[in-house]
Amino acid sequence: MTIDFKDKVAIVTGAGGGLGREYALELAKRGAKVVVNDLGGTRDGTGHSDAALKVVEEIEAAGGTAMSNGSSVTEYDQMEKMVADAKQKWGGVHILINNAGVLRDKTYAKMSPEDFEFVLKVHLTGSAFATKACWETMREQAYGRILMTASSTGLFGNFGQANYGAAKLGLAGLTKTLQLEGAKYNIRVNTLSPVAGTRMTEDLFPEEAFKLFDPVNVVPAALFLVSEDSPTNAIVGAGAGGYHSAWVMMNDAVWLKEEERTVEGFAANWEEISAQNNLRAPNSGSEQSGAILTAMQKVLGKDAAPSSARG
Ligand code: NAI
Repeated sequence: MTIDFKDKVAIVTGAGGGLGREYALELAKRGAKVVVNDLGGTRDGTGHSDAALKVVEEIEAAGGTAMSNGSSVTEYDQMEKMVADAKQKWGGVHILINNAGVLRDKTYAKMSPEDFEFVLKVHLTGSAFATKACWETMREQAYGRILMTASSTGLFGNFGQANYGAAKLGLAGLTKTLQLEGAKYNIRVNTLSPVAGTRMTEDLFPEEAFKLFDPVNVVPAALFLVSEDSPTNAIVGAGAGGYHSAWVMMNDAVWLKEEERTVEGFAANWEEISAQNNLRAPNSGSEQSGAILTAMQKVLGKDAAPSSARG
């Protein structure tokens, strides 16, 4: 079965190079009309260039349809205009890949508050702004596929990337609530955690690894996650031809007797509380509370349930 994107309008942010460019080229090859957004700055987010325009020329030379957009994802009015332009030209917006990103790595001890805030602004606020600008259109169309770009740093941590990691895990969190709010409108939201040899990683990977981590290997995962039959609320890792899923999981609650509910009682039970046993991945926060409620009913009997399990 061929997966195509005919009659779909897709926006890819940060598509002037690296992973975003590959997504844009493949979406266009498979029939989508593509908005190639990119500010065209340096890796740390300074400056401008016509990077987006060059990718549009590439797409058009290959027979595809695209328009360039040189605005910054951090400016909400510019994101609204980008969506309005796409709608005016092509009648809608069906796919959004939030991919734009910058790096300002430093150990936390040396990281300035400005560098913390800027990285959050581009990745987290930028993705939220681009998404917000598309949201109403997708609700009206009863169709939307949105991909957030997280990272292993966000999901698991990495030395020297506190700003980047905080933003990236925030994007997985944004996915989790938007997929709930979008479900009724056929809007599906997923998170991708890529690994690729791009300018973002050029001084981190040795040359051989750089080749192995060709960004084209991430494209299958990204495009499936914005396709008609995509899942929702998935967190998918992709790099060098390896693909996996990740979850935010919880174990079963340990029920402490009233007299054990002290700091010392908690400490005495820490091994069991922190054991990776019977893990499951709730689909929403209320499922977490629900699981606690069910377990509580089992342990204490039906009448012991609290009146509210939200939190
Ligand atoms: P890249 O540096 O080639 O691409 C990022 C693009 O975003 C650049 O073209 C840049 O001009 C654009 N951009 C930056 N600020 C912008 C803004 N305010 N508005 C619009 N565009 C802006 O890097 P790469 O590797 O292709 O990164 C793509 C995404 O994948 C990023 O979100 C990155 O954090 C993420 N990622 C990449 C990994 C890798 O191994 N390359 C690992 C994990 C995540």
